[in-house]
Parts: sequence; structure tokens; C-alpha cells
Amino acid sequence: MESTYIKLGVNIDHSATVRQARYREHPLDRGQMVEPDPVEVALRCQSAGADAITMHLREDRRHIQDSDVYRMREMIQVPLNLEMACTDEMRDIALEVKPEVVLLVPEGRSEVTTEGGLNLLANRVAVGDLIRDLTEGGIATSLFIDPDPQQIQAAAQLGAEYIELHTGAYAHSVYNGTLPAEYDRLAKAAVIAHDAGLYVNAGHGINYSNITTLRKLPHLYEMNIGHSIISRALLTGIEAAVRDMKILMNGQWR
Ligand code: PXP
Repeated sequence: MESTYIKLGVNIDHSATVRQARYREHPLDRGQMVEPDPVEVALRCQSAGADAITMHLREDRRHIQDSDVYRMREMIQVPLNLEMACTDEMRDIALEVKPEVVLLVPEGRSEVTTEGGLNLLANRVAVGDLIRDLTEGGIATSLFIDPDPQQIQAAAQLGAEYIELHTGAYAHSVYNGTLPAEYDRLAKAAVIAHDAGLYVNAGHGINYSNITTLRKLPHLYEMNIGHSIISRALLTGIEAAVRDMKILMNGQWR
């Protein structure tokens, strides 16, 4: 019988975004204060029950750096999902790092975060070659795609093990009134993917509000969530952070 437990992959990219905002120019390997360390964030996510850690090494290195990926591989015990574009450079890094899963995404330099799913119909050969190389290297592949039956069939034909359904349109639909239609699209896509033998993951824009509906999608294996968890951590952690600084300033809290 299929398990109803949905795994949580925590995407820690935004912790690196905060680090880069202050320490972009400073080396990460000299033992000096460079905060926050995404690896430490990931270890805390792991202790809190995260089932996997996701990190996106972007071509422009705007948040995660190469050294973060290598350190993460060494330090965490839960599976590592390495999110990346379909390029030779990224393939070579993945084959060296050996994450449990590579999550292939389209990448646009002007986007703030990943905006659309892969177009597998237009990129069959490139994606197929990459999946073959990763498979030979012992790495499973997940394809980030829109909830579109044609893309799902292509993902299965290309030999991917997982798809990640792009939930961004659903997350946005809360604000433009197309919610039921977007949910329906995701639910149908999940059934088609499951029937095609794919593990069904979901990600993008999932938050503490829409999770109550999205968790009902059929056949969900894993959800990848970043922004909302990092945002919540700011709220749940801010009181201790202020108290700690006051104690360092004055030797006491009050
Ligand atoms: N899945 C993919 C493929 C992504 O690109 C992202 C964003 O980096 C996420 C999941 C996580 O999205 P969010 O930060 O909105 O939770």
C-alpha cells in the first residue's frame, strides 16, 4: 500500500541570499564570522525532521557557492537534492559531488527565483543526455515541470525517476481567483505521473496557508519548500536573537 507520509525537502537557498547580502566579498574558509552558514541551517533543519535538503547552485552563484555544495555533501546525513540548470558545467559538478538526486530546472538570469517548468518537448535530447550521464553516475534525476500531461509523458519517456510539479501557478492563483482550476490541474497531473511510474514531488510557493490544500494532492512523495520556512524562522527566531545580543552588550538581558 502506498504510504501517506509526505517527505519534506527544505530549500536553504535563501539563507545563503542573506549571507551574500553582507559577506559576498569575504572568504568562507578562514574561520571568521560569516553568517548565516547554509550548512549550519541545513543541519538544524535535519534535526527538526527535514527529510532532505535542497540547494540550487545557480550559474551566476548569486546565493549558494560551490564550497557550500561540497561542505553540505560532507555534513548532512539526509539526502541532498542538488537543483541545477541543464549545463555541462553543472553536470560535471553533480558527478563529482554525487547528490542523491539532481533536480533539473530551467534557469533565467533575470528571474528572482525559478519561474517556470522545464520544456521537455523542446529539449528532449539535451535533457535525455543529461539524465543518462547522471544515471551512469549513480544519481537519480527529478525534472521540475508544469502540471502538463505532455511534459509528464516526456519525463517518463526520458527515464527520470521523479518529477517535481511546479506549484507556483497554484500559489499565485490564491491572489487571482483561479484556485480550483489550478488545484485540479495539479491533481490530474499527479495521477498521470504516478500512473507513468514516476515519483511525484511538488514545489514552489508552498506556504503555511496553502499547505492545508496542497497536502491533499494525490500520490505526493516529497514537497520542496524554501521561502516560507526561512520567513517563518525569522519570526520564530527573532526574540532569542535580540535577547542574545542584549546579553553580549550588557552581560544581562534587561
Ligand atoms: N522547487 C524548485 C524547483 C525551486 O526552484 C524552488 C525555489 O528555489 C523551490 C522548489 C522552493 O520554492 P519556495 O522557495 O517558493 O518554497
